[in-house]
This record gives sequence, structure tokens and C-alpha cells, in this order.
Amino acid sequence: MAKSKLGLLAGGPSCIAHRSKLPTTIRTGATSDTSKTISAKLTVRDAQLEDYVGIRKIINSKNNRASFGYLPRVVVEDAVKNQNADGEKSQHRIRVVVDANGRIVAFLRAYHRQDGATTLHEIGVAEDMQSSGIGSFLLTELITASRKRGMEKVALKTPVGMRSNGYYPRFGFKQAGTYKGRKRVLNCYELTL
Ligand SMILES: CC(C)(COP(=O)(O)OP(=O)(O)OC[C@H]1O[C@@H](n2cnc3c(N)ncnc32)[C@H](O)[C@@H]1OP(=O)(O)O)[C@@H](O)C(=O)NCCC(=O)NCCS
Repeated sequence: MAKSKLGLLAGGPSCIAHRSKLPTTIRTGATSDTSKTISAKLTVRDAQLEDYVGIRKIINSKNNRASFGYLPRVVVEDAVKNQNADGEKSQHRIRVVVDANGRIVAFLRAYHRQDGATTLHEIGVAEDMQSSGIGSFLLTELITASRKRGMEKVALKTPVGMRSNGYYPRFGFKQAGTYKGRKRVLNCYELTL
């Protein structure tokens, strides 16, 4: 079995795409039921309010900026409040990946809607940590959690012309039209679960 760039064994039944890079040796961490150690150096857990600064750093970094809209603090507050109250049942979810020094190196925000669609609002990885399987880990985790909840699909929008358009089809997402946003045109992608 090949080793991923994260230094973890790659491949395994949960891999939907990007097989060679997905970390699969996941242990449940001690901090909470929803915290997992994904490598010796990285942990994934639910976001807390103080993570907002780290999340904003990822969004606002030079090469990432054009991929994101504005993420208000109140939106993070809502997700944190709901996750703290409802745990995995929370409809609004933010997961963060934290390194050994406590730096937020990646995040994903999604909403499990009542109409059966999970909407992925943002996914971002710190520039120095990109292409090492972290984004794939977060996206696969979301897909798995959505399926487990009985959701019908995962949907997202990403700006036309951005590199990320090549990313989602690797996980089985299909283009489902375009959406004229306030500032730019977005491609819509959907994954039927
Ligand atoms: C897109 C993104 C979430 C992928 O996460 P990742 O951990 O870097 O990616 P993985 O290691 O899982 O997969 C690697 C693939 O990601 C894609 N990728 C890598 N860097 C990227 C970037 N800066 N922008 C878009 N896609 C990128 C490539 O397709 C890459 O494949 P390759 O290595 O064969 O070229 C991450 O690169 C990122 O945050 N990019 C900038 C912000 C963004 O585009 N977010 C999505 C729109 S909201």
C-alpha cells in the first residue's frame, strides 16, 4: 500500500477519489467524539469560536483569496453554537484541521439542509499545506457523514475558471448548471449520494 504525502497509508474502502493521497489510518482522539487524529501531526475536530482567526488567515492568504467570498464571524458563531449543542447532529458544520502547534491548516463549512441537500459553502487549505491530501480528507469526511445522515446529495458552487473546478469531479461531482452570482458566474456541482 502506497504512502500518502501526509506519511499515512493510502487507499482503503472509504476512498472515493484521489486514492493515492487519502489518509486512512484514523484514530479517535481523546478530546471529544468528533475529534480524530489524522496523522501524528494533524487533528480534525469541530471548530470553536477562537478558530475564526485561523480560518480567516486561510481565506485571506494571497493565492486563496479569489476562491472565497466573505465569511462573517456571526456565521462561524452560529455553526459553533449549534455544534456545541447538538454535536454530530448539528445541521451547520465547520470542521478544522489543526497541526501540532495549534495552527488551523484547513477548514470546511457545510450545511445539512432539511430538503435533503448538504451544501458545501467553503473548503480551504493553507497554501503551504495544499496538495497533501487534507482537502480530500475533509471532503470525503463530509460525503461519508452526509450519506450516514440520509442526505440525498452534496451540492456546491465554485467560480467559473478557477482551478478548483477540476477538483470536485474527482469525487464524483457532476456539473449541474451555472449560477449568476452578484459579482461572478459560478459553476454548480452536485454529488448524488
Ligand atoms: C481546493 C483545495 C481545497 C484542495 O485541497 P488540497 O488539500 O490542496 O488538495 P488534495 O491534496 O486533497 O488534492 C490535490 C488536488 O487539489 C487541487 N488543488 C491543489 N491546490 C489547489 C489550489 N490552490 N486551488 C485549487 N485546487 C487545488 C489539485 O487538483 C490537486 O491535484 P494535483 O495534486 O493532482 O494537482 C485546496 O487546494 C484549497 O484550499 N485551494 C484554494 C481555495 C479553493 O480553491 N477552495 C475551493 C473553493 S471554495
